Amino acid sequence: MEKTAKLLDGKALAAKIQQELSIAITQLQPKIGRSPGLAVLMVGDNPASAAYVRNKEKACTKVGIASFGKHFSTDTTQTELEEVIATLNNDERVDGILVQLPLPHHLDAVTLLHQIDPEKDADGLHPVNLGRLVRGEAGLRSCTPAGVMRLLQEYEIPLAGKQAVVVGRSILVGKPMALMLLEADATVTIAHSRSHDLKTITQNADILIAAVGRPGLISADMVKPGAVVVDVGMNRVTDANGNSRLVGDVDFESTAGVAEFLTPVPGGVGPMTVAILLQNTFTSYSKTAK
Ligand SMILES: NC(=O)c1ccc[n+]([C@@H]2O[C@H](COP(=O)([O-])OP(=O)(O)OC[C@H]3O[C@@H](n4cnc5c(N)ncnc54)[C@H](OP(=O)(O)O)[C@@H]3O)[C@@H](O)[C@H]2O)c1
Repeated sequence: MEKTAKLLDGKALAAKIQQELSIAITQLQPKIGRSPGLAVLMVGDNPASAAYVRNKEKACTKVGIASFGKHFSTDTTQTELEEVIATLNNDERVDGILVQLPLPHHLDAVTLLHQIDPEKDADGLHPVNLGRLVRGEAGLRSCTPAGVMRLLQEYEIPLAGKQAVVVGRSILVGKPMALMLLEADATVTIAHSRSHDLKTITQNADILIAAVGRPGLISADMVKPGAVVVDVGMNRVTDANGNSRLVGDVDFESTAGVAEFLTPVPGGVGPMTVAILLQNTFTSYSKTAK
């Protein structure tokens, strides 16, 4: 019988984390005297972003986090957004602030990110928090790579001394992912669009993380037998019949015959990203307890 990889079930783990958070919030609330609060700022009407924001707000409601989200029209100015962030930084009801990306072209996302109070940086992308990660200090961690780490931990996948390959070097996923794996004592290689002979690099990976945004980039022949494969990619593809669906960067069907563990898309890393966002908000909230 053909071997099939075990699934790293992010959806189930995210549900478990949410349940734990819900209990922890109920316990802490009397002490703090309010619910935790998260403000998701969205500008414009990108349908994918709107769906992500709805998803995050729904998850907040489920665990008892109040949403202070704001939706701005496409022509909102940089100054207006900076003022909103300054107000939220000083709002004691708000523990987490995030700016949903991408933003319309006239806005400077990096400058906005710098304005967020690092202690309320629920996405873990502020330079102070990325600096803490580089230094191995405690701090709010970037949600997607932290979600991947939590998933690997849940399935007791050993990382120390293992060859880990991260494909993709974005500041959102690839770089912090590589740093977290390094922190867990893996031997880390980062591949990117300028890497030569990607197949030789990925074939060496005990732990392979694909964070590129290209459907089917990783095929079964690029995967070491018995590897742990985590697919961060989220790509919407349309088939010949005009039906659209979400796929990752990894060719799931063929890779399932080679890998030991594999994340599904959807239902793998995506729900974990949201769970860590809620967890980061809770971490900031719990620090306000006197
Ligand atoms: N599941 C989740 O919660 C979640 C969260 C965030 C992102 N994502 C998904 O993850 C994917 C990556 O997101 P991102 O924000 O990191 O994207 P990004 O900023 O576009 O970065 C993509 C990275 O992939 C590299 N790359 C491009 N083509 C390549 C190739 N042929 N071979 C090797 N590397 C290549 C790029 O290299 P260069 O640096 O050389 O250009 C870059 O470092 C997307 O599909 C995104 O939707 C999912």
